[in-house]
Amino acid sequence: MNKNKNLVVVGAQWGDEGKGRIIDLLSEKFDIVSRFQGGSNAGHTIIIKNKKIVLHHIPSGVLRNGKISVIGNGAVIDPDIIVDEIKALRKKGYKVTGKNLKISELAHLILPFHKLIDIGREIIKGKNAIGTTGRGIGPCYEDKISRQGIRFIDLSNKKILKDKLKMTLKEKNKILSLVFNQKKISINTLVDDLMKRFKFLKEFIVNTEDFLNKSVNQGKSILFEGAQGVMLDIDFGTYPFVTSSSTISSNASSGTGVPYKKFGKSIGISKAYATRVGHGPFPTEMIDDEGLALREFGDEYGATTGRPRRCGWLDLIALKHSVEICGLDEIILTKVDILSMFNNINVCVGYKYKSQKFKKFPMDNNIIDHVEPIYKTFKAWNNEDLKNKKLPSSLQSFIKYIEKFLNVKVSMISIGPEREQVIYL
Ligand code: GDP
Ligand code: IMO
Ligand code: MG
Repeated sequence: MNKNKNLVVVGAQWGDEGKGRIIDLLSEKFDIVSRFQGGSNAGHTIIIKNKKIVLHHIPSGVLRNGKISVIGNGAVIDPDIIVDEIKALRKKGYKVTGKNLKISELAHLILPFHKLIDIGREIIKGKNAIGTTGRGIGPCYEDKISRQGIRFIDLSNKKILKDKLKMTLKEKNKILSLVFNQKKISINTLVDDLMKRFKFLKEFIVNTEDFLNKSVNQGKSILFEGAQGVMLDIDFGTYPFVTSSSTISSNASSGTGVPYKKFGKSIGISKAYATRVGHGPFPTEMIDDEGLALREFGDEYGATTGRPRRCGWLDLIALKHSVEICGLDEIILTKVDILSMFNNINVCVGYKYKSQKFKKFPMDNNIIDHVEPIYKTFKAWNNEDLKNKKLPSSLQSFIKYIEKFLNVKVSMISIGPEREQVIYL
């Protein structure tokens, strides 16, 4: 039995599973909450006493007094967006200082040309676009991997930063003007803007791997907060319709510098149905009036871009894939209240394609694009019955079936967006 108390929480679908609100709840029991990948593409909504907070970069732990939030080396950070986020939190009365928010000096910066390239590339792709958030995530991770990215640590010496950016802009400005028909970026404006941001952010920028490892050795507990979802993982998601980072549990180690042997459980968050923003395979998508009604009742609009989310039934084949890749120990099901809008609900338990049946998620786009879901139907529940001590029997059967199918316990369900609207099982 693994006795480590450090917990990893990831989205087990295509993002927007309700990670933010669950992590906000779970963070009460942890000393530190740390992000390990992703960037301003994330939008994590938390509702506390009717007040809505949307976080893009900062872990949900920031909303609790006495907790420390960390953004690890694996994340990519838009300096403009994080400065705005900190200012907005302070305006709402939350304390955000270098004492309770620490940003890795090794985290890469999302720069203006990353966003222009991201958006320009999507326009060129036309109907084959990925449907990115336009936040520059892909181009920023590309520069990291091709060893020409700019990290926070590079901001401490203006001259060296300018030399590095000069070299980068030689290439980027050609790409911007020749490929994307965009204006060239001025080195002086870029450096001045970055130095202005650095002045504000300086107090937060530290060696986070050192901070985290010291904390672990002192017996402190860490909750690792995933962004996006396993089905958007760069390796194991529905490539190429994925994000550009590794969203799976094991990346919490590479994305923070905390050795993998220090990790305990891993929990996956899943909606009781499924949604996806952007393009790409979604076998259980409901392209009908029921799907539209689910979008409205579930308020399924993106927290980052406001785009309508595609909606569909819970897909246990996709979820099983996430359980296996991440070794999930538990599942938390969110938005259980929303399914009460139906009389009957479907759950996908297999796929059909030509004469073949699939019990595993097919990674071949030629197959996954054409599969037909095999459904098992359950009776829905009434929201009023969720207030009773005993769960409605229809919901009990739904949960039991999921647990048996995945061979994983459903440890909690959420029945509304407020912090306390959860039921521990
Ligand atoms: P995240 O990116 O995984 O943190 O999820 P988002 O914040 O993008 O999307 C989840 C949405 O569902 C948010 O608007 C939440 O307020 C809302 N939400 C989360 N859990 C529940 C729930 O149990 N019931 C209802 N009705 N809404 C929920
Ligand atoms: P949270 O953390 C849902 C999707 C985009 C697009 C694909 C690639 O709130 O769950 P990117 O901008 O990352 O290059 O876009 O990934 N995507 C998300 N979908 N929730 C997110 O984050 C997402 N982050 C990226 O819509 O399909
Ligand atoms: Mg989201």
